[in-house]
Amino acid sequence: MSSLETFFNGSIKTTDPEVYGIIKKEMTRMSEGLELIPSENVVSLAVIHALGSVFTNKYSEGYPGRRYYGGNEHVDEVEKLAIERAKKLFEVPHVNVQPYSGSPANMAVYLATCKPGDSVLGMNLPDGGHLTHGWKVNFSALFFKSVPYHVKSDGYIDIDEVRRLAHEHRPKLIWVGATAYVREFPFEELSKIADEVGAYLAADIAHISGLVIGGAHKSPAPYAHIITTTTHKTLRGPRGAMIMVTKKGLEKDPDLADKVDKAVFPGLQGGPHDHQTAAIAVALGEASKPEFREYAHQIVKNSRALGKSLMENGIKIVTDGTDNHMILIDLTPFGKGKGIFVQDALDLANITLNKNTIPADPSSAFYPSGARLGTPAVTTRGMKETEMRFIALCIAKIIKEVCAKYALPEEKSKLKEYLAKFREEIRSNSVVLEVKHDVIEFCKKYPLYRTLDY
Ligand SMILES: Cc1ncc(COP(=O)(O)O)c(C=O)c1O
Repeated sequence: MSSLETFFNGSIKTTDPEVYGIIKKEMTRMSEGLELIPSENVVSLAVIHALGSVFTNKYSEGYPGRRYYGGNEHVDEVEKLAIERAKKLFEVPHVNVQPYSGSPANMAVYLATCKPGDSVLGMNLPDGGHLTHGWKVNFSALFFKSVPYHVKSDGYIDIDEVRRLAHEHRPKLIWVGATAYVREFPFEELSKIADEVGAYLAADIAHISGLVIGGAHKSPAPYAHIITTTTHKTLRGPRGAMIMVTKKGLEKDPDLADKVDKAVFPGLQGGPHDHQTAAIAVALGEASKPEFREYAHQIVKNSRALGKSLMENGIKIVTDGTDNHMILIDLTPFGKGKGIFVQDALDLANITLNKNTIPADPSSAFYPSGARLGTPAVTTRGMKETEMRFIALCIAKIIKEVCAKYALPEEKSKLKEYLAKFREEIRSNSVVLEVKHDVIEFCKKYPLYRTLDY
């Protein structure tokens, strides 16, 4: 092959064995493990093909029919298709599919609705909110006056507190949505509060958008003015995001759609990632099929089954159940700050989840007392309620093993050394090794990407 022929047609396996080798290892990790991080999923080969398409070569600043570059007739076509599919699925009059990801989408909402220094209400991060909803080190608290609301000790959003804070601070914007919340969002109640104080209500449904489309979670469309979502979680698309303006949003402010579009471009971004747009269109096409409804409902059935089995195995979960794809394990019956031990030990047993704070966590955000897990990815792999019982048993075995043996030292100066010792010991722990073996055998029944050359 000439060098040009190799450039265009050589496979990554031969042109870059180093990167190929790393991708192959990641593929093995995914195949042989149980992915329980609730914000992750496994996309279809069609989504991967669109992401790897020639649209990655293109520049197309602007919007369909209004571009700053030539050659955009096919980009226009694919972007319009993505927009139309999203409008239909979410039942909204306006959609922007260009945000690079969820955080930039939320930034654009601030730019479209607020001026620097305006008050904004959002759920506190340790209570389950997202960084961009006003966490102290994020732009959202640095440039705006962030007023956090909380969940009650029972794990449910404290609506009375939201109303009190809204009347006290008169925010321009109120966020509803979270990164760790297991119950249905009270869109209707928060919409009343937003209306009482004249605020915009933005629903960030990054986690649950697939459930909303599939009819497994109430839609915020009748209640919120703006909806943002990532496209890579329950929606099962590429990494990316969308901002939607609802009918209610346009009634409050007829210029809102235009303000949102201007906030994305030229306010925050340059050229959209057209390969990502094509892949979002593919994912939305998949989400409009009847199978996706079944998938969304199965996610929730699996999540409930997993939560129930965990409780039957002696593990406490926040709110004693779940309404969505996510479960929050409360490890405080075993002591405080145990999340790190559980996350690390499960990782070694090929079960991936993340340590997380729980309501009124007695420890810190870095050493929290809970763990967050979810069922989108394992449901995509075809697992059902029976398989959730196996997964719950594996998790419970490891939690009991590590929580009985390890506890954070009281003295901070001893922490590093203690964790290093724990990580060394846990590698040869017989319970961890036994669970790992069982998980690898179990996963063989749920193969990924038979036709991908990895
Ligand atoms: C509720 C919520 N909003 C926004 C985001 C941000 O998305 P990204 O990580 O794509 O910036 C996340 C990501 O976890 C999220 O959970």
